[in-house]
Amino acid sequence: MTKTHSLLMLPGDGIGPEVMAQVRRVADWLTTNRGIQFAIDEDLVGGSAIDAHGKPLHDETLDKAKAADAILLGAVGGPKWAGSEYHLRPEAGLLALRKELVMFANLRPALCFEPLVEASSLKPDLVSGLDILIVRELVGGVYFGEPRGIETLPSGERRGINTQVYTTSEIHRIAHVAFDLAGKRRGKVTSSEKHNVMESGLLWKEEVDVVAQQYPNIELEHMLADNCGMQLVRAPKQFDVILTDNLFGDLLSDVAAMLTGSLGMLPSASLGAKDENGKAHAMYEPVHGSAPDIAGENKANPIATILSFAMALRYSLEQEAEARLIEEAVNNVLAAGLRTGDIMQPGMTPVNTDGMGDAILREMETLSAA
Ligand code: IPM
Ligand code: MG
Repeated sequence: MTKTHSLLMLPGDGIGPEVMAQVRRVADWLTTNRGIQFAIDEDLVGGSAIDAHGKPLHDETLDKAKAADAILLGAVGGPKWAGSEYHLRPEAGLLALRKELVMFANLRPALCFEPLVEASSLKPDLVSGLDILIVRELVGGVYFGEPRGIETLPSGERRGINTQVYTTSEIHRIAHVAFDLAGKRRGKVTSSEKHNVMESGLLWKEEVDVVAQQYPNIELEHMLADNCGMQLVRAPKQFDVILTDNLFGDLLSDVAAMLTGSLGMLPSASLGAKDENGKAHAMYEPVHGSAPDIAGENKANPIATILSFAMALRYSLEQEAEARLIEEAVNNVLAAGLRTGDIMQPGMTPVNTDGMGDAILREMETLSAA
């Protein structure tokens, strides 16, 4: 009997449901044509969950997430909920999922598909062949550090506080992920922080050096985060794996995304450590947000979400061949000149969200018949 993979789909807000609908089509195709069985459940997260339950992540949803082989998330957020207290904002649902399931390793590959070389805002020769991997720490740092809040001083002046904090073990576990992955790639890790002004950055640097001793074959360099941002747009191909914290990783991954042509192209995986049963939680989501300005218009690029599903097939479901099939289909569709608005170039064929989904499915069909 073939294994049934349990998937929890959390389409979320804005364009999330539209792009996730395309993933469902890809999953259905794999069932029909490849005999891969999925048990797909769907639930609310973010603003849609706030509207239904009064909070961005319902306990039942969290339980389902814990039980699933892989979680697929669309996007959260929107102007409707933007003024609420932090714990009642859509983003809090996403952060709670990451934290509760201890998915500390966020892998954000920035891969430039050859047909999109001209779509990048950088010169083609700078991005052609680009293949970098950002390894972002995802459950620590200033996103979760205490104390935090806004207080009013006796003078009446207000004061906003967040705390950047990392411990040795938090740094070690994410550093191991980066070094292990570099070993399967080109063997280089660039660790990025701000040790010139921050103690937490200095600790990061020192502890990464400690972990590096176990990886004599990996080249390690340290780069201040501001310089790293600059180097990413100056000469991005110097990088292989970039290892960085939660906040700098958020920033640097948006920069890296743009190198590939559009934020609409970048998938990500958030991976946890194995628990006592050998199960590691994993969530897959596009790097882009909920794009409320184009939500519901069938305009969004579904590729980042479809590529996130490919990562799920690779990292959680042991379906490498199917992951590759999807990635190759995406490449071929782009090579054939089909473009959603975000990657549109002169002379190319415009398609909407469904149209891009159609084309990718057709190409999967063609490739698997060959
Ligand atoms: C990301 C997003 C999130 C983050 C938001 C939506 C909370 O920007 O995944 O990059 O800041 O981590
Ligand atoms: Mg971000």
